[in-house]
Amino acid sequence: MENNKLQERDSFGSKLGIIAAAAGSAIGLGNIWKFPYITGVYGGAAFIVIYLICIAAIGFPVMLSEFIIGRKGQRNAIGAFQKLAPGTPWFLTGWMGVAAAFMILAFYGVVAGWCLEYVFKALINSFAGQSPEAIGNMFGSFISSTAKPIFWQVFFMLLTGLIVIAGVKDGIEKYAKILMPALLVIIIILDIRAVTLPGAKAGLEFLFKPDWGKVSAQGVLVALGHAFFSLSLGMGTMITYGSYIGKKENLADTAIQVTIADTLIALLAGIAIFPAVFAFGIEPGAGAGLVFVTLPNVFQQMPGGYFFAILFFILLTVAALTSSISILEVVVAYFVEDLKMARKRATVIATIAITLLGIPCSLSMGSMSKVTFFGKNFFDLLDFTASNIFLPLGGLLISAFVGWYMGKKEVEAEVNQEGVNISYIPLFMFLVKFIAPIAIAIVFLNGIGLLKF
Ligand code: PHE
Repeated sequence: MENNKLQERDSFGSKLGIIAAAAGSAIGLGNIWKFPYITGVYGGAAFIVIYLICIAAIGFPVMLSEFIIGRKGQRNAIGAFQKLAPGTPWFLTGWMGVAAAFMILAFYGVVAGWCLEYVFKALINSFAGQSPEAIGNMFGSFISSTAKPIFWQVFFMLLTGLIVIAGVKDGIEKYAKILMPALLVIIIILDIRAVTLPGAKAGLEFLFKPDWGKVSAQGVLVALGHAFFSLSLGMGTMITYGSYIGKKENLADTAIQVTIADTLIALLAGIAIFPAVFAFGIEPGAGAGLVFVTLPNVFQQMPGGYFFAILFFILLTVAALTSSISILEVVVAYFVEDLKMARKRATVIATIAITLLGIPCSLSMGSMSKVTFFGKNFFDLLDFTASNIFLPLGGLLISAFVGWYMGKKEVEAEVNQEGVNISYIPLFMFLVKFIAPIAIAIVFLNGIGLLKF
């Protein structure tokens, strides 16, 4: 019975498919929208170096931990803990993950909807001949309006649901294998355009020549928090995807490849954006509006800008889509396996529920902006609770679970199915037992305001 059930479980069909799907999850708005703007705000190259350290010392071990839990448990984010640690409260980690998935996808779908609107705006050449002020107002009035952002959010959620309904191999993997190479091609085209602009050098120096005077404690915390978000860690996405990875695959290699792909795309996004920003004399620390306000300004001054604007916003949408399907899958896998729902029904219910939760997020940019909870509007409340509380706490528990509850022998048995090289295990155990939990605890306490830097 148990065996039959395992065989029936959908899974990834190929190595390339695993990497495309997991890298597709990791690479998203976090890389292309958020990474460049926080790099701009926190000082460029020095921030990037710190970010890279966080990725290697904490991000990578937590990702491998999630893969180990998922593949060994052969279940969704909640079920995996129930199976590996029956009768203990560890499954609450998975519960937090499913709750975080609801919250993150609710607001992620809204921002992804903005990207779709901007594909459309770029297509009809809306930025041409506009003053920087007009382009700023265009963004402000669009996100604060009522119907349009909701229309695009619903449209985007529909696309997400349609891919997830088709399943792991025939939905998620199939689309990731098409969309991820497309994304790579688009970003390389944008990079070539950016580095060949006259005056591109200043932007590249900003990205690659560290000015250590610009490092701040706040910057370090932002870097670690972003490493989590960007690698899709702390909420069971990689547990869920890990459960679809075949026993023959080398989990450490997979985690390394996904981590490198995610980091590379973030850097390529920086290379696409900053040379242009500097070449046109625009302030790099523009914040969250960088891609929606600063870039359209850049595009409309740039030779070929019409074409590159369209490509850029398609890139953003594609990246968002392969991430949103991974978030939805966390919820759907739980509904299917533990609540015994058919996949189609599970996807429809989860998509509708999350879309509804996203509507007040969208409205909180306009008509509901005065409705606040603990001083935050609905969008910020969900973002804060999920990204600053649930994800770090989830990551801490996940690394502690692998480091302390499972322990070295079990870890070795899971990663060493094919007699792969496991000489890295002592270092990995040290990272998941001590470094990751302590570093995450510091970020977490800071995130909820108990520790101030
Ligand atoms: N990693 C995705 C991004 O960079 C977002 C994400 C977070 C996806 C958490 C899944 C889980 O945009």
